[in-house]
Amino acid sequence: MMPHRPHGSGRSHDPLSDLTFVRGRGTEVFDSHGGRYLDFIGGYSACVLGHCHPRLVQAATEQMSRLSFAHAAQSHERMALESAITECVMRDCPDAKVWMTTSGARGVELAWKIASAVRPGGILRFDLAYHGRSLATASISDTPRVNAFYLPSGHVRILPFPIVPPHEEGSLERRCEEILCQAQDMLCQSHREISMLLIEPAIGSRGYYFAPPWFCKRLADLAHAFGVLVVSDEVQMGLGRLGEWSVAMADGWQPDLVVLGKSLGGGILSMGAVMGQAEWMDALPEGIESETYAAMPLACRIGCEVIRILEHEDLVGRAGIQGTKFRSRLRKLLPESLSIVGRGWATAIGFESYGNNGSKMAREWVFDLSKAGLLVHLTGPARDRLALIPPLNVSCDDVQEALEILEHKSLSC
Ligand SMILES: Cc1ncc(COP(=O)(O)O)c(C=O)c1O
Repeated sequence: MMPHRPHGSGRSHDPLSDLTFVRGRGTEVFDSHGGRYLDFIGGYSACVLGHCHPRLVQAATEQMSRLSFAHAAQSHERMALESAITECVMRDCPDAKVWMTTSGARGVELAWKIASAVRPGGILRFDLAYHGRSLATASISDTPRVNAFYLPSGHVRILPFPIVPPHEEGSLERRCEEILCQAQDMLCQSHREISMLLIEPAIGSRGYYFAPPWFCKRLADLAHAFGVLVVSDEVQMGLGRLGEWSVAMADGWQPDLVVLGKSLGGGILSMGAVMGQAEWMDALPEGIESETYAAMPLACRIGCEVIRILEHEDLVGRAGIQGTKFRSRLRKLLPESLSIVGRGWATAIGFESYGNNGSKMAREWVFDLSKAGLLVHLTGPARDRLALIPPLNVSCDDVQEALEILEHKSLSC
């Protein structure tokens, strides 16, 4: 008999919520009726190497039978992971330090604690961005079901994310300039009450929008001029998904802190990490942050192995090239009425041109594609986009099969 779950614990809005998965290997997952699917959702980036990667399973098994937990989380595995992360992600920051957390949301919260230790204050953040559903991060995420009611509203100021909504006039460049002016005004008026500027430069959960690098750079410079710490939330899109270890560094701007998550745990366990130069990372006094399971040897060993595999197989470098190739093949298969956007191995198919009907159509596509064996997820503020984020080691055969399923669906419309 199926256990009854609390109503709010499921995802009743998710067209795939009826599926029960029992097994996974690489890009494939199998449901309890033996149905096979190509998983192009992959835990929204968590399964960066697919399901049950043999090297991750081996490393986890070996570590679990040797030392899974260490008091105060001191271990060789922790040191190894911290060095691996700083070498990949913080190449330009020689004195960088890393702090491990148990999730992306906890990473964002820790970043805020660090920023507040440097200078107490609230958050300047963007609409559209998603930073988690813990009490603090739900208050600063664009989640219509939650809304910003947990934190006192004076703690949070919101800037619009730079996009030009469908059917609206104007260039993205102009929009960016307007937002920069707005940011300047906000900072002029209340910079003493703001400790961090939080930006998700590549919007993941809320629809795959990418802020222009020049915009992020100017905004970061502006925040720095007012003494506000800049935090880049790369929980979903960092660590290789977009073809770079760090979105911000690749785009040529320098946040003070970067938050990673999801991929770091290789789909095996939840993990997050905050990193930045020692000056900021050391600002947090003792006793303000700790989590029992953060940086446990098991987690760190898995994180190390994820980074090793990504490096060894050049999966980060290849993500940029392969993702671009995928989108150009997709463009040839799908009707012009559907938009295709993306970067690296993060692609969205948009139904914006169908107006109010777009979200219904997108939902139907998610459902029909799953029936045909391809898992994609609904995204976007209007839930009229399909997101495709396969593992970075997805095989050519699996990509070909996914394209055929998508083509078949589009021809049947
Ligand atoms: C950009 C971003 N930040 C933070 C989070 C929260 O991460 P977690 O679910 O591990 O708490 C997410 C999760 O989707 C995310 O996409």
